[in-house]
Amino acid sequence: MTLSSAPGKVYLFGEHAVVYGEPAVPCAIERRARVEVRRRDDDKLRVHAEDLSLDGFTVEYGGQTDDRPDVDVSEGLIDAAMGYVDGAIDQVRDATGEDEVGFDVTIESDIPLGAGLGSSAAVVVAAIDAASRELGVTLERDEIARRAFETEYEVQDGQASRADTFCSATGGAVRVEGDDCRSIEAPDLPIVVGFDGGAGDTGALVAGVRALREEYEFAGDTVEAIGDVVRNGEDVLATGDLEELGRLMNFNHGLLSALGVSSRSLDAMVWAARDAGAYGAKLTGAGGGGCIVALDPTDATETALKFTPGCEDAFRAELAEEGVKRLE
Ligand code: MEV
Repeated sequence: MTLSSAPGKVYLFGEHAVVYGEPAVPCAIERRARVEVRRRDDDKLRVHAEDLSLDGFTVEYGGQTDDRPDVDVSEGLIDAAMGYVDGAIDQVRDATGEDEVGFDVTIESDIPLGAGLGSSAAVVVAAIDAASRELGVTLERDEIARRAFETEYEVQDGQASRADTFCSATGGAVRVEGDDCRSIEAPDLPIVVGFDGGAGDTGALVAGVRALREEYEFAGDTVEAIGDVVRNGEDVLATGDLEELGRLMNFNHGLLSALGVSSRSLDAMVWAARDAGAYGAKLTGAGGGGCIVALDPTDATETALKFTPGCEDAFRAELAEEGVKRLE
């Protein structure tokens, strides 16, 4: 049996625009997905998932996602969870040359699904690491990141950047621009997360931005403006000026809002954080619902968010220095 974990992330800057080659800066946070893997005697895959912000479910299948588990959870979430695990295991079969191998996989995660905190990337990264080690092969972090990206790219119909998967595999703060992925220095960031209890459909949100870009030149300019905010943000991150970082995060949120990926509850949480004195606040990830990220060294933002209608949970998130962790 092998057990690996991988962290979720927040985007300080650059989601959506990163899909079109602009830079983005995500930071890994200490909220993890843990994936336990046991080799089977046959070629089947049995997936048991717990705490994925949905009731636990178990499904056994012969490597195909046609078999539907008989559980009371939305088909979209089941498809997503099974698609990502399937893809991760295919990558492991490819990396190890063991085409016919089967596994029992147990997933446990404290990252809400589809809420902008990189839950799928964390599951895929941890699954690839644990399953390859179960077969006696230890992959380098860069290879895990690459294979995790290929999994997301396939499951999300070609609409994925390398940002989530690289950040989860590597940990810390990273900078991603196209294929160029690297770790960067970051000051101690007082990150507060607000969660509305919901989720966004990443594929549909990315497709929405793509359609806007095709229809309006100024939507393309908005995407490029996000790139400019990110480039400024990187310089400010190096100086540790939290006030200026916050201002740029506010600007980034406004541009994402213009691209139609915010929501009433995300905006309400962003404004609650700003009113409470946060340096800045923005949605994180694909949007449509899910989480916001704010910077506030005091307790004011977390407290204000807890009293904000539409906010289901608020918590302080530490930067996860380590990406994928080998636990057993
Ligand atoms: C989703 O977490 C972030 C997006 O930029 C999509 C991606 O980068 O793959 C919206």
